[in-house]
Amino acid sequence: MTERTLILVKPDGVKRGLAGEILRRIEAKGYTLVAIDLRTATAELLAKHYEEHVGKPFYEPLVEFMTSGPSLAIVAEGERVIEGFRSLAGTTDPTAAPPGTIRGDLGRQWSTAVLQNLVHGSDSPESADREIGIWFPAL
Ligand code: RTP
Ligand code: MG
Repeated sequence: MTERTLILVKPDGVKRGLAGEILRRIEAKGYTLVAIDLRTATAELLAKHYEEHVGKPFYEPLVEFMTSGPSLAIVAEGERVIEGFRSLAGTTDPTAAPPGTIRGDLGRQWSTAVLQNLVHGSDSPESADREIGIWFPAL
């Protein structure tokens, strides 16, 4: 069944000029772009987006990182795109992410602060519906 996912090129990816390369990989994999918007997230938006992480030790540094500059918000569509983009992204820790993935090829750890790992991708159909509603209410 065709589904949609929310992808973010996080502020580290935009600052490093990797938005185009990441979009290229999404398109090269064969997914369709449905919506795209460059936007600086607010703490209020992030409290909804990362609701499962509110209160965790890394939450405050995560918000500081995610509000530090614009993110490129993307809705992509295709068969099994949720699983497929998580696979393209690689594991959360960019140092350990396999080569061939976005995080593995383009990311690494820069400091002991919160992990800056270039991209976000929804992790389930329920998360995708919820996150698309937060970032693109008109969809
Ligand atoms: P995302 O939600 O951004 O797609 O990443 P994910 O599923 O791979 O990772 P998740 O566990 O949902 O964590 C969300 C983001 O929080 C930051 N994080 N830092 N120990 C740490 O320093 C730590 N743990 C998580 C990362 O930016 C991660 O992507
Ligand atoms: Mg997550």
